[in-house]
Amino acid sequence: MIRYFSAVIAFSILLCACAGNRRNTVAGFGPYHYSIQKKVVCSNGAVVSAHPLASEAGLQVLRKGGNAFDAAIATQLVLAVVYPEAGNLGGGGFLVASMNGGKALAIDYREKAPADAHKDLYLDANGNAITALSLNGPLAAGVPGTVAGLFQTARYGKLPFKDLIQPAIDLAEKGYTITGAEARGLNRNRESFISNNSSRPVFVRAQEWKAGDTLIQTDLANTLKRIREEGQKGFYEGQTARLIVEEMKKGKGIISYDDLRSYQAKEREIVSFPYKGYTILTMPLPASGGVLLPQMMKMIEDRNVKALGFQTAASVQLMTEIERRAYADRAKFLGDPDFNKVPVATLTSDAYIKKRMQDYDPSKAGVSTAIHAGDIPESEQTTHLSVYDKEGNAVAVTTTLNDSYGSKTVVAGAGFILNNEMDDFSVKPGVPNMYGAIGAAANAIAPGKRMLSSMTPTIVLKDNRPYIIAGTPGGTTITTSVFQTLINLLEFDMSVEDAVNKPKFHHQWLPDLIDVEAAFPQSVRDELIKMGYKIRQRGNIGRTEVIRINADGKIEAVGDSRGDDHAAGF
Ligand code: DON
Repeated sequence: MIRYFSAVIAFSILLCACAGNRRNTVAGFGPYHYSIQKKVVCSNGAVVSAHPLASEAGLQVLRKGGNAFDAAIATQLVLAVVYPEAGNLGGGGFLVASMNGGKALAIDYREKAPADAHKDLYLDANGNAITALSLNGPLAAGVPGTVAGLFQTARYGKLPFKDLIQPAIDLAEKGYTITGAEARGLNRNRESFISNNSSRPVFVRAQEWKAGDTLIQTDLANTLKRIREEGQKGFYEGQTARLIVEEMKKGKGIISYDDLRSYQAKEREIVSFPYKGYTILTMPLPASGGVLLPQMMKMIEDRNVKALGFQTAASVQLMTEIERRAYADRAKFLGDPDFNKVPVATLTSDAYIKKRMQDYDPSKAGVSTAIHAGDIPESEQTTHLSVYDKEGNAVAVTTTLNDSYGSKTVVAGAGFILNNEMDDFSVKPGVPNMYGAIGAAANAIAPGKRMLSSMTPTIVLKDNRPYIIAGTPGGTTITTSVFQTLINLLEFDMSVEDAVNKPKFHHQWLPDLIDVEAAFPQSVRDELIKMGYKIRQRGNIGRTEVIRINADGKIEAVGDSRGDDHAAGF
């Protein structure tokens, strides 16, 4: 299989010698050389994801006549093997698609709270939050949704599922060579893997990992084979489900066989809203982007941000104040729509948006203690992939285990990592989750409820055809990163590479500060500080994967330079 991939990749290197394609970082090692390609310009189809082997697996599916749904399935399954940090079987995600007939699709395969979960699950006898339990070990895991999501997606594909899963099986069984970033990730989490597992998972070995080492995952290969043979039941019933339940019993986990057997992915009504002649499609709740993105785009629409200039203090200030207001609403109102009546229509209505910005003052910093959620009647690891095919189908998928390597608990005998998505619930009002986000009753834990997410897979249509396919990981920074990427492309007329790679910033109401990446210009920081803002420098914000389909039919796919992200196309 690896030989197959080497050949495929060597072949695509040759093919991609066409104009504009760039392979800049060679990560060749061991007997199997693959290189990372950041940009591809092509005409037949493209895949961009967090890992070269995953993007290339998706590309092979497109070449074989599969459509964007097939490619998205194969890419996700390979990510579950070669990108254990976030690619997953034990997590969940969201898919947004625009189909060539004009239909739009939103698939929710977010994890759910187990039936035995309750509001105070992570509180001690004194009512204090024990967030370690919502972050690490079996109790941190929600009922995984990914495999159900893949089978729901397969209804729109053309190729047999067994063909789509085979590259992942081969890579798990025969191994693949890891990159430097992956080696560092595994070494960094060594102690967490040891303390959160009853037996040593394959990710821990005597010596440190280094770039070029081979990672073989036999248990995971066997789980994937059960899924190949038995379909969705190969995960949610029978041996895999039993292994998950056994893992729960070894720790303090509460996912039951019944929770697994009854899990179902859901098709939801897509969020669609206009922006200056474009149509933007994004994921509805429990993905918060379905409320925050329309709010933010509507707040900025009439304010001529283009005239303020890219990343000037004035444009950053405007976007920050918009983000502050949207995130105040997130904390109060947003949660699983199957459990709460969330006033989405009001929160995204023109009248409400206008009112929200009435107290906006371009001369100084707003203050979060003075800006609350709107007054209306009460009634670092995830991964994104974007795919486009020659039939005109566009697919955007964001999927996650929540934290890097999720709960750090590997299901013994099944070889996959369980998510720690329970931390995305509000474990107690006012207690921040790992991304500093607080929540209210709308996002309190309840049996069978989906936890609120920031994931924002998004497609922009121009003249009713896919124009931009975008998304990113990054916890609460996801929605603001997608917002900035769209503004970079639609307002600042940037190249796709710049829109993806220029430094990003983020404000989420609380804490009341602007997070910036290291490359965010010092002069702009200084001006913002003078206006009264607090600035905090942090690590990378997101890894955005964008495909743009230009008027001449050329497809530009760009992987974020912040990671091993790779664009493939033909
Ligand atoms: O669904 C969410 O909002 C989070 N679980 C996403 C986590 C994430 O993006 C981590 N990546 N850096």
